[in-house]
Amino acid sequence: MTLTAEPLSEFLGAEIKGLDLSRPIDPADRAALLEQFWRHKVIAIRGQDVDPDGFIRFAEAFGAIEPFFISAYNLPSHPQIYVLSNVRKDGKPIGRDGAGTHWHSDSTFTEKPSSVTLLHGVTVPSRGGDTLFADTVDAYERLDPATKALIDGRRAVHRYQRKEFVFSGDRAVDAAERAEIERLKATRLAEEAAAAPSPTARRSNREPDRLHPLVRTHPVTGRKALYLNDEMTVGIEGMPEAEAVPLLRRLCEVATAPDRVLRFKWRQGDIVAWDNAATVHTATFTPPDEPRVMHRLTIEGTVPF
Ligand SMILES: [Fe+2]
Repeated sequence: MTLTAEPLSEFLGAEIKGLDLSRPIDPADRAALLEQFWRHKVIAIRGQDVDPDGFIRFAEAFGAIEPFFISAYNLPSHPQIYVLSNVRKDGKPIGRDGAGTHWHSDSTFTEKPSSVTLLHGVTVPSRGGDTLFADTVDAYERLDPATKALIDGRRAVHRYQRKEFVFSGDRAVDAAERAEIERLKATRLAEEAAAAPSPTARRSNREPDRLHPLVRTHPVTGRKALYLNDEMTVGIEGMPEAEAVPLLRRLCEVATAPDRVLRFKWRQGDIVAWDNAATVHTATFTPPDEPRVMHRLTIEGTVPF
């Protein structure tokens, strides 16, 4: 089968066509898929009517699937799958709502952050719920030489559940949308805090700070990328906070410049995979009257260097 890639924007992402996900991917297609993936950093395969087994089989093309750290929202039949949703059954959420509404790459607070994340749009709202992506390789390359010299070789501090925004790097989200996101997020955090014990608080209490390179080298492509997170990167090792926080803010603003952001608009059945070592992403607002169910899988990563 001949696989093709059509750009999703002029700077980031591609739609992959010519893959039949109803059966296993053969080695030649897998190699072609991965080549396009590492090149474009975000790939979308539109309108896939695959069940959880099919989604898992496809994800395995990218590496070994890792278990998700919060078990409260896993799909009961397939616990590798983490459910993101605003739907409730019998008064209980069927998945996590309001997650990931800040610029980040996934699980940077761990020793080996996820290399790849995949989402499958099982129930896609007719409006809202877009996912935004920005290219952190491109961002590093756009820095001036003095800034590169300042940050090369530095390590940043990543902390789970900071809950305050260090940066203001979400200018691609307007104020009204941001207000709705924050309102929903506060509701979700209050619900989780009321649960006994809260699924995220348990993790928060035992998760130490992690130091990762502020400029990381991509393990596959060898390209240098900014590696920071709008919520969980709280400082730079050996740099006073008064200096580090404005610098982190400036770097995040470079990385997420609105004119370089890919706004992905989901359609029913879409599968999107992104490279956590070369991009950052953020969720946006979904109107509460629009049901949304997304299945999420992550692939094991390595220690960033
Ligand atoms: Fe995320």
